[in-house]
Amino acid sequence: MFPKGFYRDENGELNVQGIKVSVLTEKYGTPLFIYDTGLMKERYEVFLNTVKNVKGNIHYAVKANDSVNIIKFFGKLGAGADIVSIGEFHKCIAAGITPDKIIFSGVGKDKYEIETALKHNILQFNIESEEELNDIYIIASKLRLTANICLRINPDIAPDTHKKISTGEKETKFGIDTEKITSVYKKLHELDYINPVGLGVHIGSQIFDFRFFEKAYLNLKSIADSLKINGYKVPTLDLGGGIGIHYDSNKKPDFVAYKKIISDIFLKSDYQLSFEPGRCLIAEAGVLITKVIRNKKNKDKNFIIIDAAMNNLIRPTLYDAYHKIETVKNKKGQAILVDIVGPICETGDFIALNRELVKVLSDDLLAIRTTGAYASVMRSNYNSRVDALEILIFNGKSYKIKQIDTIQDTILKEKILDFNS
Ligand code: LLP
Repeated sequence: MFPKGFYRDENGELNVQGIKVSVLTEKYGTPLFIYDTGLMKERYEVFLNTVKNVKGNIHYAVKANDSVNIIKFFGKLGAGADIVSIGEFHKCIAAGITPDKIIFSGVGKDKYEIETALKHNILQFNIESEEELNDIYIIASKLRLTANICLRINPDIAPDTHKKISTGEKETKFGIDTEKITSVYKKLHELDYINPVGLGVHIGSQIFDFRFFEKAYLNLKSIADSLKINGYKVPTLDLGGGIGIHYDSNKKPDFVAYKKIISDIFLKSDYQLSFEPGRCLIAEAGVLITKVIRNKKNKDKNFIIIDAAMNNLIRPTLYDAYHKIETVKNKKGQAILVDIVGPICETGDFIALNRELVKVLSDDLLAIRTTGAYASVMRSNYNSRVDALEILIFNGKSYKIKQIDTIQDTILKEKILDFNS
C-alpha cells in the first residue's frame, strides 16, 4: 500500500500511488494537474465519520473542482452536490448525481436556471433574498411544480479569513438579514408551490478559528428552534462549508474539533443536517506540476520563470495565497531567495514571492502543492495560453480526464470576418 496523496520515494522523488511524477510529465507534458483519488477517498470517509452521528448529509461543493470525474468519484462514495449554477447542475447529472441530491445555492440564480432546476425536481433551493423567493414562486406556480426552499441567513459574522472569501458579514451580498429571517420563513408557509425545508448558513471559506462556526450554528439553531416553537416546520439545517486547510504544512484539517462543535450543538436535536465541504475534500489531492523555463537575475532579485502562470492558478495574486512549491526530484544545494513567476505580461503573474528554493535549472520540474481546489476551476486563457492538462490517478493508473483545446482549436471557434466593405 502506498501513502495517500503525493509522497517522496526512497530516492526523494515525488510519487503518487507508486508512480513517479516525472514519468507522468514525460507522458503528458507540463503544466499538468494531477489528482489522487486515494486521498480524495480518505478525505471523504473522514468527513463522513465527522458528520455521521449528527445525521449529516454531504453535498460536495462542486465549485471547488467541477471536473465531471471528480464529482463522479465523490458521487460514487455517496455524496450529493452543492451547486451555484445550472452549468454545475449539468456537470452533476453527467457525473451521475441525481437531482434529488443536489442543493442549488447562490445569490444570482436567473429565471432560466430556476425553471430548469424545478423541472428536474432538484432537492432544494438555498435562497438569499425575498426578491429571489418571488421569482421562484412565480415560476413554480406557472409550472405547477413545488419548490423546496431553504433560507440562507446572513448572521453578520466576520470569520478569520481573506476578505474576498468571507461571506457572513452584513455588508456582503450573501444571505438574508437575521432580523428578516423569521418573517420571510413564515411567508414561505403561506405560498402555494413553496415548501419550506429549513435554514442555512455559510460564513466563508478557509476558516481556522472554529468559534466562528460555533457562533453561526448556534445562531442558526436558535432561530430554527423558535420557529418550531411557534409551529413552523424546520426539518433541515444547512451548515455550509468553509473548513480551513493547511497550505504550508502536511497538517490535516481539524475534523476532530469540527466534530466536537457540531456534536455539542446538534447531537440532541432532530434536525437533518447538510454539509457543503469543498476545499477540505479535494485541495490536497491535487498538484500542479510545472517546468522551469529559465532563471533570470536582476540587480537585486532572482526569478524562476515557469510554464504555469496566473491563468492556471490565480490564488496567489488574487488572495495573497501561499502554495508550497518543491522540486519533483530530490535536489541538494543551498536555498536561495526567489520569485517564482509565470510568462504572463503583468507583475501580478506570480505563484510565489520571496520564497526560499534550492537552485533549479531550465527543464527542472516543480510541484505546486495543494492545487486540487479553486485552481483549475478558476483558470483562464489570458495571453492566448491553452489550458493545463488534467489527469486522475485511480487504482495505480493515470487517466487523462479532459481534452485540451489547442490554439488552432480556439482560433477555429472564432468567427473570423473578412472586413471587405
Ligand atoms: N457552500 C457555499 C454556499 C459556498 O459559497 C462555498 C464556497 C462552499 C460551500 C464551499 O466552501 P469550502 O468548503 O470549499 O471552503 N476561490 C476561493 C474560495 C471561494 C469559496 C466560495 N464558496 C479560494 O480559492 O480560496
